Amino acid sequence: MRCSIVAALLALAPLLSIASAQLSGRVGPLTSICKKTTICNVLDYGAKADGVTDIGPAILSAFTNCVLKNNASTLYVPPGNYAMATWVTLRNGNTWAFQMDGIITRTGTAGGHMIIVQGGSDFEMFSKTRAGAFQGAGVDFHKQGLHIYGPRILRIVKVANFCLHDLGFFDSPAFHVILDNVSNGQVYNVLIRGHDEGGLDGLDVTCNNCHIQNIQVTNRDECVCVKSPSSNLLIEDVFCNQSGGMSMGSFNGSTAVENVYMRNIVSYYSTQFLMIKTYPNGNGYVRNCRFENFRGFTNAYALQITQYWQNSGANLAQDLSGVQLSNLTFTNWVGVSTDANSRAPVFLSCSTPNPCVQINVGADVLFWDPSHAMTAYKCVSAYGTGVPCFPALAAGKTPASYVAQTTTVKTVPAGWAQSTVPTGALASGFPLTSPIPVEPLPWPQLHFPAC
Ligand SMILES: *[C@@H]1O[C@H](CO)[C@@H](O)[C@H](O)[C@H]1NC(C)=O
Ligand SMILES: *[C@@H]1O[C@H](CO)[C@@H](O)[C@H](O)[C@H]1NC(C)=O
Ligand SMILES: *[C@@H]1O[C@H](CO)[C@@H](O)[C@H](O)[C@H]1NC(C)=O
Ligand SMILES: *[C@@H]1O[C@H](CO)[C@@H](O)[C@H](O)[C@H]1NC(C)=O
Ligand SMILES: *[C@@H]1O[C@H](CO)[C@@H](O)[C@H](O)[C@H]1NC(C)=O
Repeated sequence: MRCSIVAALLALAPLLSIASAQLSGRVGPLTSICKKTTICNVLDYGAKADGVTDIGPAILSAFTNCVLKNNASTLYVPPGNYAMATWVTLRNGNTWAFQMDGIITRTGTAGGHMIIVQGGSDFEMFSKTRAGAFQGAGVDFHKQGLHIYGPRILRIVKVANFCLHDLGFFDSPAFHVILDNVSNGQVYNVLIRGHDEGGLDGLDVTCNNCHIQNIQVTNRDECVCVKSPSSNLLIEDVFCNQSGGMSMGSFNGSTAVENVYMRNIVSYYSTQFLMIKTYPNGNGYVRNCRFENFRGFTNAYALQITQYWQNSGANLAQDLSGVQLSNLTFTNWVGVSTDANSRAPVFLSCSTPNPCVQINVGADVLFWDPSHAMTAYKCVSAYGTGVPCFPALAAGKTPASYVAQTTTVKTVPAGWAQSTVPTGALASGFPLTSPIPVEPLPWPQLHFPAC
């Protein structure tokens, strides 16, 4: 479905009314792709589909000399194999599109970002053939050893009213896709395949009013990660296929995150189902969020809040951990844990000066560790409903901090069942020494209306 059609469906379909209510207004470009009719073909600006010639200068030239000079234009990369040796920043384009039907392979070694789209409004980036992709060839860096990174692939900064869809991002040398302080955005049908290592985030999001749907990520770090400031996000139908898992954070300094709704998330052999993490220097809030319909397979951690991320509470001279977590609701989660003996599947470790409140965990949030025949709950300075280690909080009383309290359960929770493994789930992550092949998008063919 095209961006504008999705927006129309959201407005019409009663079943989707929750979704549209979640957003604070329309998302996606203001102008249909059919009206962005001036074609700025990179082949006319020096690009060659020979797998050798640097496409960077041609993209920049097509943007500067064609897109910026013609309202309602499309920067077009036709099918073919291109090399990219130098990076580009495309600033302040309005009412334009970037149609990526080729495969661009990184050959340059500078850090930074291969492509930054910064500022402007009414933007659409997509592959019409659905065969367009970025090949970051991160293997060139990663095979040299752990934590050796190169550039990130795509950063979209302060762009309003945009859509990113039907594109693949393979083997980034660092993070794959970053939405940085954007608004009214829509992202769907995005496939991300990175190496089995930290530091290779899938999709990092800082947005006011974004709808994110049909995302698949393989890596060993953030799958889809919400960063601050963000509000009114609907994130759904995400498959973390050998990944780190879903996350929010790591929050440090001023934090403002609210009205995030994640649903229909599958976490297959990932580090966690969902982690919310803050550092002691944080302040501000994470509030009014819902996390619904999570299915997990063999993850080390399951549902985890940690306000002393990376053990940042140790040796604190003064504990300032001030991000207030409140009104977070978790419903319909079913999963397998592997380390319930040492890592409680529900582990809520909140701030000492600023305990979490209104953490609502549904009776349908069910974990079981078959190998240790147990599940466990661990609470630190957390209050709410549905978790056996939560202390009661009498009406009108101020929540007080408390030390870790654990409840261990040795019987299979009623209603728990091993979920069906998704077909085609990846048996292991991509080793650092292996190239990652470009593969087709797993979602159905787009129907583009005749323009
Ligand atoms: C650009 O083109 C779009 C689509 O035709 C139109 O709606 C818009 O008014 C134009 N903007 C300017 C600045 O001409
Ligand atoms: C995001 O962009 C808005 C508008 O340009 C600006 O006011 C705000 O400070 C930005 N936020 C961050 C975190 O950069
Ligand atoms: C968090 O913020 C504080 C204060 O700005 C800074 O000193 C510290 O290094 C930050 N911690 C991390 C892990 O970024
Ligand atoms: C809690 O958050 C939900 C959204 O998840 C919102 O609808 C509700 O009004 C919030 N409740 C309070 C007391 O703020
Ligand atoms: C998981 O990733 C692998 C490797 O890219 C892919 O072959 C498989 O189809 C993915 N699983 C699903 C269910 O899409």
